[in-house]
This record gives sequence, structure tokens and C-alpha cells, in this order.
Amino acid sequence: MSVHIHVDGRRVPVPEGISLAAALVGSGHWTFRRHAVSGRPRGPFCGMGVCFECELTVDGQPGVRACLAHVRDGMRVETCPPTDPDDPSGGDVLAAAPGAGTTEEGRGV
Ligand code: FES
Repeated sequence: MSVHIHVDGRRVPVPEGISLAAALVGSGHWTFRRHAVSGRPRGPFCGMGVCFECELTVDGQPGVRACLAHVRDGMRVETCPPTDPDDPSGGDVLAAAPGAGTTEEGRGV
């Protein structure tokens, strides 16, 4: 069974009962926020609430870790602005299995 969430104003069907991070990645949303200093795109890394890379705004509340939140019907999610096409990173972010790689090098900081 699926529910619908709203991601940056677009209605998106997602499986019921999964984490918000999984729902977003599964629907093609990889950039959740931007690094405060470099502006580079960031997305889920640890998948278990440790790295804070998956923070976004949910129902008007900023700083929600998507890997710890579960989807619910009608949830409104705001990510960062779309990736700049001139961004040399191409908008790619590192996604890894939960608990994998915790060094700065592994995080691509
Ligand atoms: S992916 Fe959510 S805190 Fe690390």
C-alpha cells in the first residue's frame, strides 16, 4: 500500500511504513540539503541518525532527520533548492549502507 507525500510542492507516491529518507531516495531525490559553508549537496549517509546529513524540513519543522522519520500520508517535505547545473559536483552525493565509513574522507566533506 502506498501513501502520498509532498516534496517541494510535488505530490509523490511512496510505500507506506518506510523511512522518509528511503522514500525520498527511492523516488529520485538525492539532495536533501546543502553544506552550510561549501554549498555542496548533501544527502543521507549513515541511515541511523548519527551524521545529520539527511536533515530537511518536514511540515514546517526544520532539522528533521529523514532517516529517523517515517512517511505518513500528506507529509510536506522541503529540501534544499535544486542543484545548480554549473555545480561541478553535478549534484551527486554519497549514499552508503548504514554505519559504513565514518571518516571525513569517506563522507566526501
Ligand atoms: S542519514 Fe540521517 S542522520 Fe545520517
